[in-house]
Amino acid sequence: MCGIIAFTGNRAAAPILIAGLRRLEYRGYDSSGIALHSRNKIQIHRAAGKLSQLEKKLPAKVAGKSGMGHTRWATHGEATDENAHPHLSTEGNIAIIHNGIIENANALRKALEASGVIFSSQTDSEVLAHLIAATPAETLLESVRQALLQVQGTYGLVVMDAERPGELVAARNGSPVIVGIGEKEMFITSDANAILSHTREVVHLDDGELVSMDQKSFQLSTLDAASATRESITITHDAGSLELEGYRHYLLKEMFEQPKSVERTLRGRLDHRFSTARLGGLNLTARELLDIRRIKILGCGTAYYAAMCGANCIEQLARLPSSAEPAAEFRYRNPLIEPDTLYIVVSQSGETFDTLAAVREIRRKGGRVLGINNVVGSTIAREVDGGVYMHAGPEVSVASTKAFSSMLTSFMLLALQLGRIHDVSPQYGTVLVEALERCPEKIAEALEQDAPIAAMAKKYCVAKSMFYIGRTDAFPIALEGALKLKEISYIHAEAYPASELKHGPLALIDPDTPTIVLLPDNDLLDKSISSLQEIKARKGPVIAVTNSDSPEIVELSDDVIRFPACHQFLHPLVMGISLQLFAYHCAVTMGRDVDQPRNLAKSVTVE
Ligand code: M6R
Repeated sequence: MCGIIAFTGNRAAAPILIAGLRRLEYRGYDSSGIALHSRNKIQIHRAAGKLSQLEKKLPAKVAGKSGMGHTRWATHGEATDENAHPHLSTEGNIAIIHNGIIENANALRKALEASGVIFSSQTDSEVLAHLIAATPAETLLESVRQALLQVQGTYGLVVMDAERPGELVAARNGSPVIVGIGEKEMFITSDANAILSHTREVVHLDDGELVSMDQKSFQLSTLDAASATRESITITHDAGSLELEGYRHYLLKEMFEQPKSVERTLRGRLDHRFSTARLGGLNLTARELLDIRRIKILGCGTAYYAAMCGANCIEQLARLPSSAEPAAEFRYRNPLIEPDTLYIVVSQSGETFDTLAAVREIRRKGGRVLGINNVVGSTIAREVDGGVYMHAGPEVSVASTKAFSSMLTSFMLLALQLGRIHDVSPQYGTVLVEALERCPEKIAEALEQDAPIAAMAKKYCVAKSMFYIGRTDAFPIALEGALKLKEISYIHAEAYPASELKHGPLALIDPDTPTIVLLPDNDLLDKSISSLQEIKARKGPVIAVTNSDSPEIVELSDDVIRFPACHQFLHPLVMGISLQLFAYHCAVTMGRDVDQPRNLAKSVTVE
């Protein structure tokens, strides 16, 4: 989604802004631009398309020691140079960059046009530049504050004034704004990854807050003009983890990082002495955990499929009724919130609008909600009652892989902790602790199948459509496998519970439609093999994904993807790796932009 970077200091701003925008590219965008403050003027440079288009348009020397940059993902108006941010007021003295949606933009635009303002873009954001220019006050901060009181909608906003060199004002309502504190220089960004090579000390704004800054200091305040204070936090992940490090794509790198990222999710959380897991951040005592009667897990996209896996896993181990639901569906259906239900939201970015809205709905109604998040200090992480950081490290590729495996790992830890509070015996607890410890090794073994899976992908990526089927805990993995294939290869893919095939989808099975059948070696293996027979009888090509030695699977399948033998608690996690590799190689064979698939953004911070 749209990205923001702003800088004020004693260095040339343009290279800092362009490098920052490059860090934001992974979030998805279709145009970009920068504004520089130089000699009491604001110069803007904007271009539709990739960042390289903007770079081509920049003069060899771009003066200015303060400025701001933006990557735009079109919502109002097409992806054109004119609609790209920054936007200027008519006199050119106020410049803005904006993430979010101004809901009363039409009404504001009409009123401004009536007073003689001429708009030069079709965006909702441009009203902010004109509105601030039309709201004079003693300070820029006060102009912005007064203007925002007239605005309905969401914003992460940065403003510059030609007459105030080195000064930046930013405001937040529903879209992240982070202040970066450097040595005699300051940054503003929507994503801390953009400034990590300059500073690790950051302050997150809350909704309804503004910040004004120069190169030496910053002041927080609220829309009601009260002052605010907040401790800074230090970001600990390595800036190197944002580089490709020799991999062809971020997606490939992130898939191969999974033994390490899952190891980080597990680190310090397994307790051999009591044969359990310990998740420190839940902020719930054992007694409070014991009083929970039901679990409801919410997320979007891949996170929703992880939520489904989590619900299965918790219900099996803790014997607590557990279910998952897409966060947006939940929040729009006026849900009942029960005091003895534990609500859990799962989100890699911690900024997904629908998931955040679900958190707010639950809390407004008095419910207790935990978060499973990857980005430290993200909005969801700050608004929940407690939770788990996945520590997967930054995920750059739009398609989620290592965050998914760390979500599943977090849920397995939680299921074990809850299970041991209920009726998992110490003996079985020990078996599960030992199984979990082997996750990184099992993932690494699954990744060893990269070359045979790449060869298979070459054969099957010509298909127009594919099916993915699995039973019980393999079904969410089938859903996630199909989503991965759709997202990055654009091949149509649908997932079904294997048992549902005969209730309709079987009509679509033919020699041109491959089915990926998940066959983990468990009690349901015979039933899953019968699905293979159903498909073969209709001459459908079958790719079996299995860790069983059953000769029947080999006989009935056109190809077999092997994943390692492991405790069945780990099956969803380990099978998922094989499906990631398959989707990746299909996409690469088809020449797709695997890291930035069309129409998609890394985090969806709007409705
Ligand atoms: O940041 P989140 O985990 O909340 O994001 C949720 C979804 O938007 C995300 O998982 C999306 O489905 C990805 N493109 C999946 O690869």
